[in-house]
Amino acid sequence: MQQQPTKGSSRDQFVSKVGFIFAAAGSAIGLGNIWRFPYLAGKNGGGAFVLFYLICVIVLGFGLMLAEFVIGRHTQLSSVDAFKKLDKRFTFVGGMGVLAAFIIMGYYPVVGGWSVAYIFKTILGQLSTDAAIMGDVFGSLVTGILSPIFWTAIYMLANIVIVAKGISSGIEKASKVMIPTLLGLLAILVIRSLTLPGSIEGLKYLFLPDFSKITGEVMMAALGQAFFSLSLGMGCMITYSSYLSKKENLVQNATIVPVLDTAIALLAGVVIIPATVSFGFDLGQGPGLVFVTVPAIFATMGPVLGRVFGIIFFLLLTLAALTSSLSLLEVVVSYLIDNKNWERKKAVGFSSVILFLICIAASLSMGVWSDFHLLGMNIFDFLDWLANNILLPLGGMFITLFVGWFWGKDKVKAEVTNGGEINFSLFNVWIFLCRWVIPIIIGLVLLSGIGII
Ligand code: TRP
Repeated sequence: MQQQPTKGSSRDQFVSKVGFIFAAAGSAIGLGNIWRFPYLAGKNGGGAFVLFYLICVIVLGFGLMLAEFVIGRHTQLSSVDAFKKLDKRFTFVGGMGVLAAFIIMGYYPVVGGWSVAYIFKTILGQLSTDAAIMGDVFGSLVTGILSPIFWTAIYMLANIVIVAKGISSGIEKASKVMIPTLLGLLAILVIRSLTLPGSIEGLKYLFLPDFSKITGEVMMAALGQAFFSLSLGMGCMITYSSYLSKKENLVQNATIVPVLDTAIALLAGVVIIPATVSFGFDLGQGPGLVFVTVPAIFATMGPVLGRVFGIIFFLLLTLAALTSSLSLLEVVVSYLIDNKNWERKKAVGFSSVILFLICIAASLSMGVWSDFHLLGMNIFDFLDWLANNILLPLGGMFITLFVGWFWGKDKVKAEVTNGGEINFSLFNVWIFLCRWVIPIIIGLVLLSGIGII
């Protein structure tokens, strides 16, 4: 985007096609790929989870991303207004998306803060291949009181400054550098990880499905992860594509972004899971996995090289997280600007104060408040579960139902083919996915995930 996407008479557009791909991929690629995917794969039985995740990305991810792109580019509006214009009955879908963004931003900056903290821990050389030492380093950070809140505040501040200035011109540029560098660094780490003794067992764990591990909960986790990682189901991609020119090929964009995102997630998995197995760390440890295993990989590279790579890694992780959380905060802020007529600065100030308070609660729930449970989960896990496993899939279900049944096939076709200029031979397959396959899969997975079927 050339300029900030605030309301205005002439709508800014992305300078180039590559610019949009990088901005959308910048939103998609984040903690979801490097922090959340590997730990979920580790916790949920490896190969079976990964297989179901890939099915979700291919069938739902592509179809829903295209649906969001079509709505955004057609209306040139952000998600709440887009639905208001197209069909008032679906406005609540936009509202649900704002709520989901709000909930995710109630804990995402906590993890962003851990990532910032690890830049400094790496500088100080807190690297070791000993599980107990690395577990302590992580444990004492996240169960602390002031220190994780301090790092969260630093991370939040970076978001606030960028979004208050009106986002975007920076996102496109930052992503263009970040994504290729991240791919390169992960490729180097893959080699290091796979040459560790015994790491091949980890690779098998990650890719050989053990179908006895598939349960309703595992499927729900994989589905939620697909939505989270691709930034789908809450109108984020509707808003981004509203800045896309009428000449762009939406189908191509909706293919490239998921491919890039999935490549990064799989690479992160191939770095982290085999190394975890090689070091004999606990695969099912949950949110600490990347912060425990990756520094241990750097410890094997020697004090100097390990530190240099470590600093680059956590810097990139922070940057990747930042380009994602900006897109989330922007959803909340632009809702307040467009629907409550607030000034941008007021919207940013108000929402970030409330979000920061929720983040404090989420952070404390890893330590002193860990006994406080909602539906059997601490606050952090509850927010994560509610947004990713419930709200995003429901949002995705309504978005595809809208495109499949309510919008009108001819109008959808005109938009997706740029008025007939682009040949999209799978159009009918895609509409079928939107009408039946995607909503039904989501419905079944949700029902089995919460234990009804
Ligand atoms: N996809 C991002 C990640 O992987 C997180 C994110 C950014 C997101 N925008 C979103 C998730 C919109 C859901 C919806 O870290």
